Amino acid sequence: MSQKKLYFFANWKMYLDYDESNILANGLAEEIKNKERNYEMTIFPNALSLQTTSQTLNDVGVNTGIQNGYWIDKGGYTGETSFIMAENVGCKYALVGHSERRHQFKETNHEVRIKLENILNNTRLTPVLCVGETQQERAEDKTLEVLEAQLRAAYDSLTWNKERDLIIAYEPVWAIGTGNACEPLDAQIQHERIKKIVNQLISDIKPIILYGGSVNAENSFDYLKQEDISGVLVGGASTKLESWLQIIKNAEKL
Ligand code: PGA
Repeated sequence: MSQKKLYFFANWKMYLDYDESNILANGLAEEIKNKERNYEMTIFPNALSLQTTSQTLNDVGVNTGIQNGYWIDKGGYTGETSFIMAENVGCKYALVGHSERRHQFKETNHEVRIKLENILNNTRLTPVLCVGETQQERAEDKTLEVLEAQLRAAYDSLTWNKERDLIIAYEPVWAIGTGNACEPLDAQIQHERIKKIVNQLISDIKPIILYGGSVNAENSFDYLKQEDISGVLVGGASTKLESWLQIIKNAEKL
């Protein structure tokens, strides 16, 4: 059994509708309900399915999280859902700054920061900050620079209650949904860098760093065995029961 605590986080994005999300949540709950576990599992369904999937999954010890939220609790913000509203329907986690938010919806480092502040000040949710470089930034040897800028914008002078987990997902943009996963040793190097930067920004905290980007049942083990990789954030391969269960089962080999 693994010495380190592992985290299996599933980002269902907008792949599944309400019915599909609930069918998958029920199937998952059925499969794992009587199994002993020493890992943390969290599912991020679409916002419409949060309440029902939370009821199903929370009952069997699986957490749920919101994929994105707004930093004001209530008000005239058509189309938005606040983090506190997500907490009220059973969520424990919130993704912040996922690369699809940053790149497709032009979310800035500043917005990411305000979201983090709202989550930490007004909710009990655990934020999962996503960081990562684009293909071009990597080609120009700017990976470290980008990671530093994203982490600094998020955490510099941020007051963090040390009792709360600090979770980061390293998700290189070029690896997300492409089948072109980052080499595990390369990911380990980036995780080490992230750990170092976070330690400079917030003292006395041990960040939990997950890898995400084309993780599947075949490659997940190679990530989990790296020293500074505490788990995986999985998109596509988490939306099918078989491959998700396989990813979790692989961890037993550790
Ligand atoms: P992927 O997505 O596993 O489909 O590459 C990961 C993510 O975006 O969190």
